[in-house]
Amino acid sequence: MKKVLAIVLATLILVSAFAIGTSADTVKKLTREEWDTLYNSLKDDNTLPMLCVGADQTQLGLVWHAPKDSAKAEVRLAKSESMADYVTFTGVIDPADNDTQVVCRVDITGIEENTTYFYQWYTGTEWSGTYEYKSKSFDSYKMMVIGDIQIGGQTESAEKQSEDGYTWNSVLTEAMSKNPDISFLLSPGDNTSTGKGDNEWQTLLMPPLVRNLPMALAIGNHDKKGMKYDYFTHMPNEFYGEYFTGLDRDFYFRYGDTLYLVFDATSASAADHMAMAKQAVSEHKDAKWRIAVMHQALFGPGYGNIDPETGILLNAVFTPIFDSYDVDLVLTGHSHLQGRSHFMYESSVVGKAESGVAYANPKGTIYLNSNAVCDHESFTLPLPHVAYEFAENDVTTYTTIEFYGDTMKIKTFRGDNSELLDEISILKNDDEKKEDSFLNRLHRFFYKFVELCGRIYQEIDKIVVANRGGHF
Ligand SMILES: [Fe+2]
Repeated sequence: MKKVLAIVLATLILVSAFAIGTSADTVKKLTREEWDTLYNSLKDDNTLPMLCVGADQTQLGLVWHAPKDSAKAEVRLAKSESMADYVTFTGVIDPADNDTQVVCRVDITGIEENTTYFYQWYTGTEWSGTYEYKSKSFDSYKMMVIGDIQIGGQTESAEKQSEDGYTWNSVLTEAMSKNPDISFLLSPGDNTSTGKGDNEWQTLLMPPLVRNLPMALAIGNHDKKGMKYDYFTHMPNEFYGEYFTGLDRDFYFRYGDTLYLVFDATSASAADHMAMAKQAVSEHKDAKWRIAVMHQALFGPGYGNIDPETGILLNAVFTPIFDSYDVDLVLTGHSHLQGRSHFMYESSVVGKAESGVAYANPKGTIYLNSNAVCDHESFTLPLPHVAYEFAENDVTTYTTIEFYGDTMKIKTFRGDNSELLDEISILKNDDEKKEDSFLNRLHRFFYKFVELCGRIYQEIDKIVVANRGGHF
């Protein structure tokens, strides 16, 4: 009887969420009790899909698990809620890491701006319910960053995992209800805690809003403790490089006038990271803004670039890439501390970047570090490159990045009540950064030495990780 009641309640919650369109402007927060009911109804269902960003703003991806014998990688997309005018997109079926399922991956193309779509996917037994996706403006747009979602799982109790899911759902709902114009969510990694449990990904995909919000998820060291990321994601332009192994991969995508370079910073394969940046930039030379994403903090609060375990190495590997390709903003996580650097170049402060100030054509790169959602362990250090730091690291946060005209505006909010914590604007109306300067080319020439060292480190690291049984 309890089970029947739970299913009825969960259905009611899902139906009520859908009845209001699960559109971000009307979505309501779930109480802990409502969330637990939803969690219990879905926790054993390893089929929830993830809506992913596409190679550009006119594309999307969808990835889900389906029964091996009856799966079809098909998605229907329509402009009417009745689905009468649907078109079908067909993708590929890849092996899952269990005996009974496969992974379906579909690319959806031809998305027009400011348009409401409805979609369904083939679950393996039937067409799913109908879900809404509202595209936003392509020229001026807003995206959101939430880092270290880090859903606990494999070794955690169901109760703890439901709590993590509740926290994740709460910050997502808070952010989307206050910012219904967000185009997509980007996370700088540690999406899961052990990287080994299907249940971690299922909890990550449970919030009803995830059906409406494309996501771009970088790989973090926790994700890399296992291989599950490989089976639950479908990122655009995945770049497997020459020396990457196992889960290693970078990816990139374009949205509006911004090129996003997403690095797997758990790999020290400098040659591959540089090759990805070169390829992405050469395909998108006209992109006004360049944003890089990597998991480990470099110039945020906390250890970052001076961390003897990985920071010194990562600084050597990544900073020259960001400097030589004139990256405007680097998004990181890992330290579980919300904060932001001044303008940085060659690992030094080259200009102040104070909260509340608008800067015109600044030299250097801002590094913004995200707080964590489910794990708040951290410690901080007084560091000269830190321009802003949020001291209450047990409070969730989210950051929005808005592009309009020649301006990029970065705002960070508390995740529980959307109080504005930090804001900075950059105006870029000169074309200087589009020119590939002699200095930039020189940077990349001397980087060949780093590439060689990275290759040697990679070989040693493989042996160390194999002996240790995984990454930190
Ligand atoms: Fe991490």
